[in-house]
Amino acid sequence: MPQDGSIGHAQQHLTARGDKLRSMSQLLGHEPRFSPRLVLRPFRRRDTNALHEAVRASLPDLAEYLPWAVNYQRTVTAQFVKDSIGAWANGRAFDFAIRAQDDEDTHLGNVSVWFTSRANSVGEIGYWIRSDITNQGICTEAAARALQVAFEELHMHRVTSRIAVGNLASERVVQKLGFLKEGTLRDEVKVGSRWLDHTVWGLLDQEWRYERRRYEAEAWV
Ligand SMILES: CC(C)(COP(=O)(O)OP(=O)(O)OC[C@H]1O[C@@H](n2cnc3c(N)ncnc32)[C@H](O)[C@@H]1OP(=O)(O)O)[C@@H](O)C(=O)NCCC(=O)NCCS
Repeated sequence: MPQDGSIGHAQQHLTARGDKLRSMSQLLGHEPRFSPRLVLRPFRRRDTNALHEAVRASLPDLAEYLPWAVNYQRTVTAQFVKDSIGAWANGRAFDFAIRAQDDEDTHLGNVSVWFTSRANSVGEIGYWIRSDITNQGICTEAAARALQVAFEELHMHRVTSRIAVGNLASERVVQKLGFLKEGTLRDEVKVGSRWLDHTVWGLLDQEWRYERRRYEAEAWV
């Protein structure tokens, strides 16, 4: 039937347009993002050595909370860099290498944002910082800049962070960034042979609009 056909075509057209808009919102440019002290940029194949060096220099701290750092081998880093490049290209996750503006060769850590529910525009943030430069506000500054990407470029409505119970430094980071604690997830992640409870923290886009001004005043973005 012609009428059915035209209705079908119109629906197809609307669906295709919706898909296009959705896929546009999932794309993210590869350009570096700057904060007062830092450069955040996507990973490149040639980052493997610098990343491996930073992980090796931080293993005792990383292996306390991050499963991939237990029994760590260099192949983990090589695979991560490969996966990260693919994940960015298809919008699955956006991993940023953190570097200092005055020394782009030394790897300072990672900060990542990714969607956990595209339908609801909900995402998550994760990070780690190399052990010899902690407690200098690097994570807070890098996470603040990544949150700007999440809310202003990826148009997320809500960003969560899951933090192992007992990881007081990481809790302090999200507190400084204005996240609210929402609850506890029991036995959420297995790290080596230990199951770790995690607290879940959230920041909403309407809160971001206020927090952004505070981040600017703190010179985090
Ligand atoms: C958690 C981590 C990312 C913090 O990075 P960082 O660059 O040191 O973070 P910042 O300097 O921005 O902030 C750290 C805050 O924690 C505080 N802190 C550090 N150790 C603490 C402790 N044992 N108890 C309470 N607060 C602590 C610092 O004083 C600072 O707060 P302040 O600015 O109010 O003084 C880093 O330690 C890390 O990578 N740890 C191992 C991996 C990890 O835990 N990743 C996070 C998984 S959720």
